Amino acid sequence: MSTSPSPVLTKPEEQHSVKGMQRMFSVIAPRYDFITRTFSFGMDMSWKKRLVRELGIQPGMRVLDLACGTGDFSRLCREKGATAVGADLTIDMMRHSPDLRTPVGADAQVLPFRDGTFDAVLIGYGMRNFPDPGKALREIHRVLKPGGKLGTLDFFLPENILWRKLFLGYMHVQGAFWGLLLHGEPRIYTYIPRSLASFLTSSNYGTLLGKCGFKLAGGGRFILGAMQIHWAVRNAATPKT
Ligand SMILES: C[S@@+](CC[C@H](N)C(=O)[O-])C[C@H]1O[C@@H](n2cnc3c(N)ncnc32)[C@H](O)[C@@H]1O
Repeated sequence: MSTSPSPVLTKPEEQHSVKGMQRMFSVIAPRYDFITRTFSFGMDMSWKKRLVRELGIQPGMRVLDLACGTGDFSRLCREKGATAVGADLTIDMMRHSPDLRTPVGADAQVLPFRDGTFDAVLIGYGMRNFPDPGKALREIHRVLKPGGKLGTLDFFLPENILWRKLFLGYMHVQGAFWGLLLHGEPRIYTYIPRSLASFLTSSNYGTLLGKCGFKLAGGGRFILGAMQIHWAVRNAATPKT
C-alpha cells in the first residue's frame, strides 16, 4: 500500500525543495486566502495596496506578480490599468485564484521570460520561500527593464531578540491552532515561523538587494518590524555573480 508524501515540511532540505513546496501549497491552497487574512489580522490587503501605490503602478505598465499564489497583486495592478502576469511554482495555488488571467508555472530562480520584459515585479510572501533569494533577485534583475521596480512584502526576522523570540513563539502557537482546526495537522502552518527563523533581517535584505543590482528606495514596517514592505529600483549594471 502506498501512502502519499506528507505536506508537512519539517526538514530544511524539504522547505527548499520544489516538490516539498508544491506539496505543501497544494494542500493549503483552498484555505490560503482565509489563513492569510487571519494571520495578518485583516491587514494583508492594506499592505499590498500600499506597496502597489509606492511602486507607482499605472496604465501601460507590464507587471510580474511573482510567487503569485492566488494573485492578489495581479488583481490590484490590473485595477490600476497595468497588465499583470502571475507566475508561481504551485499550479494549485493559481487554480484557486478568482481572476488570474495569465498564470505561468515557474520557479523564481529560473524565470521563463526574456531580458527586460517587465516594468515592475511584485512578490508577496515569496522571497522567504526561495531556496536562494540572491539567485532569485538576480533573475528578477534580468527580467526587469533598466530602471524597473521591485516591491516585496514579507515577514522579516525582528532585530530585537526579545521581540524575535516572542513573535516566533506566537506564530508557532497560532500556526498549530489553525493547522489542527483546518487540516487536522498542527505542523502545516508552523512552516511559517520555521522558514522565518532561517530568513533575513530587513537590514540584511537591504544589503542583499544592493549586491544583486538594486537600489533600495523605501520601506514600511508593520507589527514592530516582523512584517515589512520594501521597494527598490533596478540598477543599470548587471550584478557580478
Ligand atoms: C505564501 S504564498 C504567497 C502568495 C501570494 N503572493 C500572496 O501574496 O498572498 C507563497 C507562494 O510562493 C510560491 N513559491 C514558493 N517557492 C517558489 C519558487 N521558487 N518560485 C516560484 N514560486 C514559489 C508558492 O507556491 C506559493 O504560492
